[in-house]
Amino acid sequence: MLTTMLPHRHIEQKLREAVRAVLPDADLSSSQIRPCPDPRFGDYQSNSLISLAKTRKLNPRQLATDVLHRLEIQQWCEPVEIAGPGFLNFRLKTSAVTEALNAAARGDHLFFTKPSAQRTVVLDFSSPNVAKPMHVGHIRSTILGDSLSRIFRLLGHGVITDNHLGDWGTQFGMLLVGWKTLLDRAALESDPFAEMERIYKVVSAKADPEKPEFDAATRDAARAELVKLQAGDPENLGIWREMIRLSQNQFDTIYSRLGVKFDYTLGESFYNPQLKALVEDMLKKGVARESEGAKAVFSDGSLPPKEDPFLINKEGEWVANPFIIQKRDGGFNYMTTDLATIDYRLEQWQPSEIIYITGGPQQLHFRQLFASFRRWQPQGQVKLMHVWFGSILGEDGRPFKTRAGESVKLADLLDEAEERAVKTVSEKSPELPEAQRREIARVVGVGAVKYADLLPNRQSDYTFSWDKMLALNGNTAPYLLYAYARIRSIFRKGGESEENLKAVDLKLTEPQEIALAKQLLNFDFVLHGAADEYRPNFICNYLYELAGHFTAFYENCPVLKAAPEIRSSRLALCDLAARTLKQGLNVLGIETLEQM
Ligand code: ARG
Repeated sequence: MLTTMLPHRHIEQKLREAVRAVLPDADLSSSQIRPCPDPRFGDYQSNSLISLAKTRKLNPRQLATDVLHRLEIQQWCEPVEIAGPGFLNFRLKTSAVTEALNAAARGDHLFFTKPSAQRTVVLDFSSPNVAKPMHVGHIRSTILGDSLSRIFRLLGHGVITDNHLGDWGTQFGMLLVGWKTLLDRAALESDPFAEMERIYKVVSAKADPEKPEFDAATRDAARAELVKLQAGDPENLGIWREMIRLSQNQFDTIYSRLGVKFDYTLGESFYNPQLKALVEDMLKKGVARESEGAKAVFSDGSLPPKEDPFLINKEGEWVANPFIIQKRDGGFNYMTTDLATIDYRLEQWQPSEIIYITGGPQQLHFRQLFASFRRWQPQGQVKLMHVWFGSILGEDGRPFKTRAGESVKLADLLDEAEERAVKTVSEKSPELPEAQRREIARVVGVGAVKYADLLPNRQSDYTFSWDKMLALNGNTAPYLLYAYARIRSIFRKGGESEENLKAVDLKLTEPQEIALAKQLLNFDFVLHGAADEYRPNFICNYLYELAGHFTAFYENCPVLKAAPEIRSSRLALCDLAARTLKQGLNVLGIETLEQM
């Protein structure tokens, strides 16, 4: 097993051994190495000795010198340099790079390692609301959540994906009134969301005292229908189930276009039977209390006001900002179901972590939820994580809307992406048959939308631009897909059996070959970084650089025209680059094409 390990893993292990020899009681988990930001200084660096020296009031350069004396890494590295205040800079020997690539060519690894401690992780993402089309806000959750689940799976963790559908709540009172009095069956059949939205809009306007259409009788009817539904009235339950079924069909069409699957789809309504007992238990345990007829969790004063999610600053004063788990009218809400959901997930799957992927506006909800849950069940060890993201803006810098000012539907967006990609593909490869061009456009279009969504720092808003995301040059999906297909085309021209590629002894001599090989070795850092920080954009940037390194290599080092031994070595390098690109795109949820 050791021989297949990546060189940086060996170096890191040896560094820990050397640190332990010098400081037997040091915390070794922080003794890490990272790729060097500037290759002029080396391939990897470690700054861990500086902080170690600081906490122990040692001279960092002296500590570095002592550690260096015990560091046995000649097998992989050139002599190590101490830089600045006590950084260690490592430069790989070409022989070590070659050995790691030979192992990859044999199929021993693909430039990443799986952590020894496997975890069970629940991912809660997409979670659209019934009777409403998925809009752009759900795109980011779906795409980001799917990518994170692929990354965790690749690293060997136990992953459970759960689509927490919004299938319960006050909107159903209005939908039921609309369904019973306004429904156009034919319209429902041809476009279920459009019809459900239409009846919802009419009724909700009439039920809203702020609107000119307001009609008290409609408002009361909506309340009455909701109460009947909650009480289990068979007719209302039947209609409600029908709305869920129709919505789920539409969602499934989109998920299949996106290649997204869920292990479970347990909507909010699934937790209804638990809610009453849950609230009673929280009251009994003193975590929640009654206030003005409602039941809520309040600050327990254990945190400074600034960090306390149950306090809010109003005009310079800290006032209560309770987490309401039962409304005055007795109804339960989004908070109550979310508490029950954590409880259920812990009991069913014993995860070490639950990750929620939603937009930024829900930050307060999750801070309150997590804090309330901890107070309710303090014995738990589970890590609760809200991975939030910014909004998608139109090119005018305002929230992304259709020309008519409506929110953009995901289905329409994917249609347009494919339509536009057809044009690009037809320009670039007019000789391909129509059906193939359409298939390429499908992969490019969907891939472009996903990539544009994953590339920016997830917490910043990003501007949706068709031209940018479909550009063939720049950090885009089409660019990477072409890079991949171009490598595959070398094999179509050059033909080399898989067996030969496996047995090759690589020879890395040119600087571009070595740079490409070292970039491949960095895949490990990037995957682990993306998982640790829930940021697939690290992978996007890595793949873009990888494609750049490949281009530099291909422009400077002839492959098919090289002498036989060099030719097979370079073909093997091409193959490894292609496989890494494909694996990287795969964890972003992006399909690849052999030919474009
Ligand atoms: N349905 C919610 C929405 O569309 C998202 C649900 C997120 N998941 C959760 N467990 N609260 O905003």
